[in-house]
Amino acid sequence: MQLTVIGTGYLGAVHAACMADIGHDVLGVDVDSEKITALIEGRPPFYEPGFDDVLTRALASGRLRFTTSLREAAAHGEVHFICVGTPQQAGSLAADMRYVDAVVDGLVPHLPASCLLVGKSTVPVGTTARLTSRIADLAPEGVRAEVAWNPEFLREGFAVEDTLRPDRLVAGITSREADETLRRVYAPMLEAGVPYISTDPSTAELVKVAANSFLATKISFINAMAEVCDAAGADVATLADALGHDTRIGRRFLNAGLGFGGGCLPKDIRAFTARAEELGVGPAIAFLHQVDEINERQRTRTVALARQMAGGDLTGRRVAVLGATFKPDSDDVRDSPALAVAMSLHRQGADVRVHDPEGTANARLAHPELRCSSDLLTVCQGAEIVLHLTEWGQYREVDPVKLARVVRRPVLIDGRNALSHDTWRAAGWTVKALGRPA
Ligand code: UGA
Repeated sequence: MQLTVIGTGYLGAVHAACMADIGHDVLGVDVDSEKITALIEGRPPFYEPGFDDVLTRALASGRLRFTTSLREAAAHGEVHFICVGTPQQAGSLAADMRYVDAVVDGLVPHLPASCLLVGKSTVPVGTTARLTSRIADLAPEGVRAEVAWNPEFLREGFAVEDTLRPDRLVAGITSREADETLRRVYAPMLEAGVPYISTDPSTAELVKVAANSFLATKISFINAMAEVCDAAGADVATLADALGHDTRIGRRFLNAGLGFGGGCLPKDIRAFTARAEELGVGPAIAFLHQVDEINERQRTRTVALARQMAGGDLTGRRVAVLGATFKPDSDDVRDSPALAVAMSLHRQGADVRVHDPEGTANARLAHPELRCSSDLLTVCQGAEIVLHLTEWGQYREVDPVKLARVVRRPVLIDGRNALSHDTWRAAGWTVKALGRPA
């Protein structure tokens, strides 16, 4: 099939390459010409495990091309996927829909024939209906452009796997033709047994924000329990393991620590509360404000723990922060809890050095005042406190005996509860973590 994928961020770029990989003829589109040049040359514009292979394969097959022209896109596709960002609006909790609207406004007047527009971005419920009437005003005479919503559930770090082998596909459609078109797009996945849920667009739009809200709530729930554990002298890690054995609850997303960040969970729960207010059902999901607050509080609690370990004053103290990205296996630092803590320590006068295997370039761009390096020993040299804030696999491989020789004082704050505290203590380290007894 002839597909276009508009917006080549990590969602769009991975979707475009994977769609070409399963046999479609794909044109990827973005306004950012640097990004397009990189993709044409087979250089991923972001770090995502496995993406370079699928991109190289798709380009070599001749089924994947890129352009900056929406006019060219209009001529190419029988299905146009909208994959642009919906960030939080400045000064508001709501989502900024200007990029989605700009795609529709730039594409639809040039459509030569009837086609299907399929939104994948996370949007406020009601977007499909709103765009449908916008498109009716913009489409050339005789051209019918239908809108469907097909939310994307991929995780950064697992983007290729999640796109090729999703847990489920959700299609918000208003006609049988749209349903059939989407089933043809995803035929190899459907043959492999991926569940396909066909529903109305509002339900499809809601599935996405409900899923992210549930995940955020699960994380904040366990972090709230960590606060109770701290007050009661109990252990949140054992609590989470014991809860997780109940298959109705499940162990995943019950890792207590610094909480969630990134370009999705925080802004999605905020946009959802803003949309619910508009719909007059704000109180129904008012608990999401608390989910957000609990999450933010873990950052303050981690900084307070560092201050306590520094004897009450961080001024001039050498601090090593391990991790800058919002999660491991990504170079994404958007709303990174690790960087928020690093910045807070810096503002309180600490001499902060940040390590990250892949995220230092983005971290420097976001916070030029922080000293970032991908050399772990340089970052830890002379440190009085080491904070483990993003659980990259390589930190679990660190030999605490060797690291103890490099630092000034062997004090570890494990902000992700992901290191072996017994091993670090046996190597002479004082280890602290939220929700864990000393
Ligand atoms: C999230 C969802 O998991 C995806 O399903 C969704 O498609 C995506 O948002 C999106 O809307 O685009 P992602 O942002 O890549 O994916 O990251 P997650 O793996 O969900 O992690 C989010 C944050 O939660 C990270 O900062 C992570 O460190 C934190 N987290 C996760 C915890 O603090 N505890 C946990 O137990 C799990």
